[in-house]
Amino acid sequence: MLNKILLIIWFIFRPKYHLHFFSLIKRKFLFNHDTPSNTKKAYEWANANAISYYDALKKLDIKGEAVGLDNNTIEEGQKLEAKSSTKMGGSGHIHLLYDCVKLLKVENVIETGVAYGWSSLAILKALSENGSGKLYSVDMPYPRKNNEIDVGIVVPQNLKKNWILIRKPDNPGIINALSKVDGGVDLCHYDSDKSWWGRDYAYPILWKSLSSKGLFISDDIQDNLYFSEFVNKRSLKFAVVEFEGKYIGLIRKI
Ligand SMILES: C[S@@+](CC[C@H](N)C(=O)[O-])C[C@H]1O[C@@H](n2cnc3c(N)ncnc32)[C@H](O)[C@@H]1O
Repeated sequence: MLNKILLIIWFIFRPKYHLHFFSLIKRKFLFNHDTPSNTKKAYEWANANAISYYDALKKLDIKGEAVGLDNNTIEEGQKLEAKSSTKMGGSGHIHLLYDCVKLLKVENVIETGVAYGWSSLAILKALSENGSGKLYSVDMPYPRKNNEIDVGIVVPQNLKKNWILIRKPDNPGIINALSKVDGGVDLCHYDSDKSWWGRDYAYPILWKSLSSKGLFISDDIQDNLYFSEFVNKRSLKFAVVEFEGKYIGLIRKI
């Protein structure tokens, strides 16, 4: 009870999160898709559809050698992370992100969910090696953690020039990010609000923003059935990859 009250107070004193707070309240009155039985079904679906990383790249027509993010960059990031005083969410599949940005030579990338910034680091490193491109990241901090200052901490200064960090919830942060993108979006990485309703807000907007041949990547698709429903309803070309006991969904726009 006390935690709930402190959470409400945290939101009340931060007007830029009010819209998100109201949508969290509204969800309490909507159908709950995030039940344990749906999580079990989603896990089984992801597990049954999972293929190797290399087969996934092949299936989605992503050609070239996948080498992953180099160890020096990872070690540098680990040293920066050690300076953080707060515990934040774990990283996405940084090697997959790095490889996709490099192999597809993407220009504009949008991601949701930054935390320490491991996914941002992988994407920005690949963009800098490509010689061009921008990353638009949307992130709101964990409520009551006071971790704003450490969001993106693993990204070194020299990679920040092509990084636009929008410190807002997905709604309205994604729309704000899209309004800044010059040209089409080539790659989206979704790693923020993993609830069914959170995905129901973000996936359709991000998918619509993707250029033809663009790639959509979503973390933790085993949490609920949203990813499987999304690809099945629209008959999309997708792949699922297992990563550290969790599942990543990839969709290529044809
Ligand atoms: C799992 S972490 C992201 C990890 C990051 N992609 C990486 O690879 O290091 C999730 C992040 O999304 C943020 N987040 C959660 N819900 C959000 C929402 N509705 N809008 C924006 N950010 C959100 C969390 O505060 C956290 O910073």
